[in-house]
Amino acid sequence: MLYDLARPVLFRMDPERVHEMAVRRLEAWGRSERVAKTLRARYFMEDPRLSQELWGLRFPNPVGIAAGFDKNAKLVNVLPHLGFGFVEVGTVTSEAQAGNPKPRMFRLPKDKALINRLGFNNEGADAVAGRLARSGARMVPVGVNIGKARRVPNAEATADYLRTFEKLYPYGDYFVVNVSSPNTPGLRDLQARESMEELVRALKSKNADLARAQGARPRPLLVKIAPDLQPKDLEGVVEVARAEKLDGLIATNTTVSRAGLKTSIQQEGGLSGAPLRDRSTAMIREIHAMTEGRIPIVGVGGVFTAEHAWEKILAGASLVQLYTGFIYGGPATAREINEGLVELLAQTGHEHLADVVGTG
Ligand SMILES: Cc1cc2nc3c(=O)[nH]c(=O)nc-3n(C[C@H](O)[C@H](O)[C@H](O)COP(=O)(O)O)c2cc1C
Repeated sequence: MLYDLARPVLFRMDPERVHEMAVRRLEAWGRSERVAKTLRARYFMEDPRLSQELWGLRFPNPVGIAAGFDKNAKLVNVLPHLGFGFVEVGTVTSEAQAGNPKPRMFRLPKDKALINRLGFNNEGADAVAGRLARSGARMVPVGVNIGKARRVPNAEATADYLRTFEKLYPYGDYFVVNVSSPNTPGLRDLQARESMEELVRALKSKNADLARAQGARPRPLLVKIAPDLQPKDLEGVVEVARAEKLDGLIATNTTVSRAGLKTSIQQEGGLSGAPLRDRSTAMIREIHAMTEGRIPIVGVGGVFTAEHAWEKILAGASLVQLYTGFIYGGPATAREINEGLVELLAQTGHEHLADVVGTG
């Protein structure tokens, strides 16, 4: 496959530079009718056995691109052509931010992993809203992941999230409250029960107001959580999710743990990819059990293949996402995972993916 040839070259270059190049290239592909058509013919995936309706949205397949890949919503029209069934943009903050000093993204090829401490570099809510407004008809659901601006202290976090939410409200098919990035100091403390309760209540109330004003249904609201939550904290999150009727949970963000790494590397930041896989799947399984399957879960962490996606779906995820697996696997990754899922359904004698969610 072509990417097998390209990867060694790309992996000799600075990871963030490669990412910027990839975004520019993909953006150009999205603008060319001809290229988009070719990509679509090769990779797009819509299969009745994999498509689902969740929160009133139609997902042509369950494999999404995780937050952080398209921070500024430049690729919402091209990633579906590569086989992604939904796109999550962001994290977006209320104002533009430069993020942490470079270098801030590192590859760990021996571990099939990445470490990043980007720190929510993004163009800010106004710029992203403008871009989404111009992006036209949607091929797949587009979620908007929102976070707290670094400058804003935690005591004022709720007002900051509300500002970002309101600006992006017309353009998100669903919204994700990111309280789990390890790269904004104090952010993960917002997962504590009282803080989360306050934040979720405020967003739900704003959601209802904005929906009423537009004569539309409130937007699905999800919370993305960290894999490093202690069992008691996870219980708190799940209780708030149930009490406040959250629409879903995304498990998980990157980890601050370095357990089991083959690479010796001393870099701060969040670890993603293969070393995170089992931890995130275990968390999905715990959430599914605690909620008796009543709250849809988006599973993310270390998905590189159909088998990995299948594990997460059996553990209780209705949808999955990936970031690191796309970097290691290249443009065909989402398509291959989707094809593999269809095969796994056939092998296990199931008609539809929804029949296996949470059965393992
Ligand atoms: C370089 C990089 C940047 C990321 N940025 C964000 C972000 O802005 N917001 C967010 O919620 N998650 C972000 N993530 C986390 C991913 O969305 C995902 O939760 C995590 O990487 C685990 O999935 P993976 O193993 O498939 O990469 C980022 C991950 C990476 C590798």
